[in-house]
Amino acid sequence: MTTSAILPPLFARFRRLRRTEGLRGLVRETRLSPADFVYPLFVAHGHGLRQEIESMPGQYHLSPDGLAREAEDLRALGIPAVLLFGLPAAKDDEGSEAYTDDGIVQEAVRALKHAAPDLVVITDVCLCEYTSHGHCGVLSLPKGGIVVDGEVDNDRTLELLARTAISHARAGADMVAPSDMMDGRVAAIRRALDENGFAHLPIMAYSAKYASAFYGPFRVAADSAPQFGDRRGYQMDPPNVREALREIEADIAEGADIVMVKPALAYLDVLARARERFDLPLAAYNVSGEYAMVKAADRLGWLDGRRTALEVLTAIKRAGADIIITYHAKEASAWLT
Ligand code: PBG
Repeated sequence: MTTSAILPPLFARFRRLRRTEGLRGLVRETRLSPADFVYPLFVAHGHGLRQEIESMPGQYHLSPDGLAREAEDLRALGIPAVLLFGLPAAKDDEGSEAYTDDGIVQEAVRALKHAAPDLVVITDVCLCEYTSHGHCGVLSLPKGGIVVDGEVDNDRTLELLARTAISHARAGADMVAPSDMMDGRVAAIRRALDENGFAHLPIMAYSAKYASAFYGPFRVAADSAPQFGDRRGYQMDPPNVREALREIEADIAEGADIVMVKPALAYLDVLARARERFDLPLAAYNVSGEYAMVKAADRLGWLDGRRTALEVLTAIKRAGADIIITYHAKEASAWLT
């Protein structure tokens, strides 16, 4: 007997369920929703400020008075959460505007919570936007008269990150998200929150955050590029994946409520491995460079920006993300509805 006599014809086996959008929709394994998104916002001092960020078309520097309108837009689109980044009035060696109660992020949190109490307001906890040298922590004091270039003092930085988190909590933030990559910062922030009456406040840890070229546009937007050296002494080395799992495990042990992989697109394997291993909510940060690439290629007519963005976001969800932090949030939500 020949094979064709015992098996039915195989030519259309997979294609049968791809014939119409109705059939494809019925068997779709991953569905994007505006409810998956967290929208990053860049807030700056001033009044009536709404200035487009050149390297991130469609993203703006906003002053606190413009946030009520922004919150209304997000509510209408079904986007549940924002992640705040601040541009301070002045920078110094210790990044002090990060942890003053009248800092820009603190002011923005109050404005947003006043305008939209239901919006989940998450704050990025880091010093790089606030330090004059642009590093994510304070620099170590000269040892024997020699300044060690780029040496960020881990434990002194922990104190300042904890103060920043408490200050954001006092302003009314719903969640804090440390992005500095100092060792032990989740434990330090957890302890400080607990001791200051914020035991209920969750921490979303940027657990596996790589030293990535994809942060370029953000650093222009947030004016946070290091003035010397780079961040490879504290952010993760891109070739490593097992180390990412150890970082995530440590953050969970220290009290993280949500863990994150960042960037997303070039690190989908890390995301998938993390999804397999851990049961906590998992976030992925679709970073500025990933967004800028899509926008640039779309502008040049080289890619269909809309289809590309939705494909990227779907892939991030398929790889295992529960939460996607993305600059595409608003347009993608509009496309999805
Ligand atoms: C702060 C921080 C960065 C990003 C988020 N938080 C920049 C960096 O680490 O240099 C990048 C976000 C993006 O590129 O969209 N440490």
